[in-house]
Amino acid sequence: MDEHELEERFQELLDKYKGEPGALIPLLQGAQAIFGYLPQEVMARVAEAAGEPLSQALGVATFYSQFRLKPHARHTIRCCHGTACHVSGATLISQEIEKHLGIKAGENTPDMFFTVEEVHCVGACGMAPVVMIDDRAYGKLTPDKAVAAVKAFREQKEVQEAGGNSGAALVAASERGDR
Ligand code: FES
Repeated sequence: MDEHELEERFQELLDKYKGEPGALIPLLQGAQAIFGYLPQEVMARVAEAAGEPLSQALGVATFYSQFRLKPHARHTIRCCHGTACHVSGATLISQEIEKHLGIKAGENTPDMFFTVEEVHCVGACGMAPVVMIDDRAYGKLTPDKAVAAVKAFREQKEVQEAGGNSGAALVAASERGDR
């Protein structure tokens, strides 16, 4: 979608909710669905359409973890730092992943492939320590296994993306022994 189409969709969203009570959250959700995150100028226009001060809109966007104020990479690595994972070595796992990618939690890789986050319990304590990559859970990790999982995930996605997500590409890659 080009910039013009994004702007059109955003304007439709603003028009739809303008002046409606309680519009702030649906507006924030809609804007994030369009842009992938909430840039400052988008926040200003959302606040205006919702009839709220910008500080209030920013306060809500910061409070709810579903909202992102910074661009987000295509894939997300969530390192669990809940209690069970913490006592099973989550800190070392995070450090090793961050070292491998050359970024810290909260940052994106320069190619916008991965964003790394530290999160609270992801609900899989029996497999602690756990790392989620997008919606896949990797459990009972060591730092080495965690880095191997990150590398394997990337390799698999790159094959998929190069083949336009086609099953044929995956099969071909698998036959070549790339996976
Ligand atoms: S503490 Fe990590 S999954 Fe529960």
